[in-house]
Amino acid sequence: MRRAGRIAKVPPYLFAEIDRKRREAVARGVDVISLGIGDPDLPTPEFIVERLTREARDPSTHRYPPYQGTADFRRAVALYYSQRFGVSLDPETEVIALIGSKEGLAHLTWAFVDPGDAALVTDPGYPVYGIHTLLAGGQVIPLPLSPDNDFLPDLDAVPEEARERATVMFLCYPNNPTAGTADLEFFARAVEFARRHDILLVHDSAYVEVTFDGYEAPSVLQVEGAREVAVEFGSLSKPFNMTGWRLGYAVGSRQAIEALGIVKTNTDSGQFEAIQRAGVEALTNPLSREFISGMRAVYQRRRDLALGTLLKLGCPVRLPRGSFYIWAPVPTGHTSAGFATHVLERAGVIVTPGSAYGDRGEGYFRVSLTLPDERLEEAFQRLAACVNW
Ligand code: MLT
Repeated sequence: MRRAGRIAKVPPYLFAEIDRKRREAVARGVDVISLGIGDPDLPTPEFIVERLTREARDPSTHRYPPYQGTADFRRAVALYYSQRFGVSLDPETEVIALIGSKEGLAHLTWAFVDPGDAALVTDPGYPVYGIHTLLAGGQVIPLPLSPDNDFLPDLDAVPEEARERATVMFLCYPNNPTAGTADLEFFARAVEFARRHDILLVHDSAYVEVTFDGYEAPSVLQVEGAREVAVEFGSLSKPFNMTGWRLGYAVGSRQAIEALGIVKTNTDSGQFEAIQRAGVEALTNPLSREFISGMRAVYQRRRDLALGTLLKLGCPVRLPRGSFYIWAPVPTGHTSAGFATHVLERAGVIVTPGSAYGDRGEGYFRVSLTLPDERLEEAFQRLAACVNW
């Protein structure tokens, strides 16, 4: 058997690796607490589950759904954008349903990156952007993020040659993994940059609803003219605890939505219609805003708990305003991977090594707040007993 050469370029998927280490530790009898993957521990709201169970009994949902997503789902996404961001979208041409935003981000790359092209990718960044660029034969050009630039890339520093070769630029705010946030002024600069260099701006907004201290994260489409050069990816996973349901959407540039549709119609056959109908419930039921406020309060409480311990231990960590992650420097003398191994071996706690998100992630680790308060407290007690900054 001869595997394609492109597979050799791909490192094992980060969370599959972490899961392997977790299973090995569990098999050794360790009571492992995972602060690894961002997978909400709380259940999907009852009104959404209730709608799914009702719709699953309707046989008309059992057939292939429309390729772009049901008209109702696309209208619900457009309604959400108009109510939440004041952005009006044409559900026919500017919205497409996805089997989770990860699927859409991966497929979009195939629609925009040819061998020899380049993608501007934030470093650290969610691995899917860069991996699919490599699979498509493109080159990844990192946009460094650091606390010194508030985790916003310095677009003026992108070399001329990179601007010319790049066909796409990936951004994500609130950011995974750094928890950095972007305001509309930054988005306006990014849109201008994309327009000037004929680059598609791809904004991953999976964490747009996970914000704290009264902060409301913007959509890139709020920038005047953004829809001509930008496409934004959204997910129902994080706001509504629906990671296993696999439902997301892309909105914005007609050309980008159409191109993504070409890859998708030749690849998948859409998400189960009953799930899309439950997604309509999530996006349009007035109870959703109340649910989101409660979800924010839960993560804010957990953020404060985690931050309190880290600061007490002398870890110079920043107060995040969004995402359910904490991004913190490892103690002196450790590498990211060494630190992750150390806390797994000494404390039975899984943290994600920052280096897994790119070279600029070296020296950091990420903690996800998606587990019950008692377990989170216990994880930090165990950390406190074996690490010091
Ligand atoms: C993460 O932990 O980075 C995310 O949960 C991964 C994902 O959304 O696919």
